[in-house]
Amino acid sequence: METEGRQLDSATVQAGVTRGLDVGEEVRYFVADADGQVIGQIMLTREWSDWRDGWIAWLQSVYVVAEARGKGVFKGLLQHAIDQLKQQPDVVCMRLYVERDNNAAIATYQKLNFADSGYHVMETPLQ
Ligand SMILES: CC(C)(COP(=O)(O)OP(=O)(O)OC[C@H]1O[C@@H](n2cnc3c(N)ncnc32)[C@H](O)[C@@H]1OP(=O)(O)O)[C@@H](O)C(=O)NCCC(=O)NCCS
Repeated sequence: METEGRQLDSATVQAGVTRGLDVGEEVRYFVADADGQVIGQIMLTREWSDWRDGWIAWLQSVYVVAEARGKGVFKGLLQHAIDQLKQQPDVVCMRLYVERDNNAAIATYQKLNFADSGYHVMETPLQ
């Protein structure tokens, strides 16, 4: 709701997270905790690039609880993910998509070395 103005169905989200975790290496979450409470998360998925002969890591489901923002929680999660991905020589880059009006997230990503990829993301429904 906060980032995309969508009311999510909690049963669908619960099923989506559970099934994602069951997939294994294709879907990974990293969470930040403070005193046993999850205060931030990121999810990594991946896409094959034939012409680069390597994987593109996708950064998704980025969220830090409001009261923990601006303290480096996301930066820490991102750095942890990058450190892990750099151990895998066939991962060529990391990508993300962000709502074009989400100025706070865009500013955050820019500070952390992300730049416009030059692509439009387009989609068509299949359900
Ligand atoms: C975007 C979001 C994940 C950032 O998390 P965060 O933990 O507050 O970010 P950090 O504290 O790690 O900040 C990382 C860098 O971005 C900068 N930054 C953070 N919020 C910023 C803002 N609102 N405007 C400008 N810069 C910002 C920080 O100053 C920091 O830069 P530095 O390393 O030069 O000091 C968080 O605001 C959030 O959860 N927003 C709502 C959900 C959302 O929009 N998710 C993204 C969907 S694509």
